[in-house]
Amino acid sequence: MGRLSVHIETFGCQMNVADTERAATKLRAGGFDLTDSADSADVVLLNTCSIREKAEQKLFQRVGEIKNARIGRQPLIGVMGCVAQLEGEGIFKSSPSVRLVIGTGATDRVGDLLERAVGGERRVIDVAERKESETYEISHLERHSSHIAFVPIIEGCNKFCTYCIVPFSRGRERSRAADGIIEEVKRLREEGFKEVQLIGQNVNSYRPKVEKGLEGHTGATPFSRLLRAVASTGMPRIKFTTSFPRDFHPDIVKAIDEHENLCNWVHLPVQAGNDRVLRAMRRGHKVEDYLSKIASIKSSRRRISLTSDIIVGFPGETSEEFEDTLKLVRECRFHGLYIFKYSPRRGTPASKLPETVSEAEKTRRFLALETLQMSIQREVFQSYVGEEVEVLVEGFSARSRDDLTGHTTCNKVINFRADSDLIGKIVKVKVREAKTHSLYGEV
Ligand code: 5AD
Ligand code: SF4
Repeated sequence: MGRLSVHIETFGCQMNVADTERAATKLRAGGFDLTDSADSADVVLLNTCSIREKAEQKLFQRVGEIKNARIGRQPLIGVMGCVAQLEGEGIFKSSPSVRLVIGTGATDRVGDLLERAVGGERRVIDVAERKESETYEISHLERHSSHIAFVPIIEGCNKFCTYCIVPFSRGRERSRAADGIIEEVKRLREEGFKEVQLIGQNVNSYRPKVEKGLEGHTGATPFSRLLRAVASTGMPRIKFTTSFPRDFHPDIVKAIDEHENLCNWVHLPVQAGNDRVLRAMRRGHKVEDYLSKIASIKSSRRRISLTSDIIVGFPGETSEEFEDTLKLVRECRFHGLYIFKYSPRRGTPASKLPETVSEAEKTRRFLALETLQMSIQREVFQSYVGEEVEVLVEGFSARSRDDLTGHTTCNKVINFRADSDLIGKIVKVKVREAKTHSLYGEV
């Protein structure tokens, strides 16, 4: 039998993208081929996300579609990621055509698990934890981009915000050793990558078991030491996401001030603008605390772009409390905002609270917040007109082959007319025009 081909479909956050890259690396090393085609692959793996409601339903729908698209031989179907971790054996019951379930801790064992399924074992499941000895290895062949690399630095979450499923789907926080991270960034630089994004549910809660790799790099917290260590590799651009407000130390801003290659963008989810709601969410910060973090970000010598996440319609949230969220958004002037309507996740503490905000009211709040944010964002983006920004050119713009697209150091999308030989390079672009979600300029 020739090499079997595997197609991996990825849903959700950058952590899942990184897991897919890792799984692909293991599979290729284990003698499988990777393919972009779900219709011809021998094996289809669905790397799932559970942050949104009805994740399971969507998964089973997708499994159905994959099966229906085939006339002849059916592919072997496996489920990876957060839904796999949360539902485990339950997936086999609800969807008998699934033969392989790989939890979030088992990504590195995907090769052996698939071997077993291919070898005839009817149902293969692994929802155990990652082993200490397993390392993060991603071949450059499997990276989602040849210019930007995701580098996980911490996995899981210990915060247990009452609405959130992540501490259950991703387990407790585990920080990766700094020496391994730094080695990886150095290697990426040699391979020609222009940007790394240090990723994790809460990057600034980074706390490795050992010092190794951080020696000689100062900082108020292990994370700000890591930022300085990564900056010293000379990687042209370094971004990091997501930051957790309670653990956001002003020394992070200091590090950004010191190192030009630490990008001027911070994603700091606030979730709500009212202290009672924040307490009910168990966020561990008050409005005042958040504003003081923002003040430190705004006091930077560089213009740091600030983005956030907000949930509207949390159980018990009154209209007055929602008004407080609008007030906070007016004050913070975010450069970008992800707005979510609250929806209960089975197994989380908040899912036991009675839902007091109707769907219609959630929609009203969503739209009110979105309208406000759009008006702020228009002004923010407009203020970049005439400025020169530094852009990593990623490829052709979605709209036209005449235009190229990329992100600024402050993580804004910018399009501009230029020759395709600039793809993969860092260029200076003068901003000529601003839209609500992107900029337009010329090199
Ligand atoms: N309902 C709505 N939004 C949620 N998020 C997480 N859990 C829920 C939920 N149960 C949002 C938070 C988080 C983002 C990734 O998803 O805003 O920051
Ligand atoms: Fe979820 Fe809160 Fe952890 Fe973020 S910090 S992943 S919202 S539990």
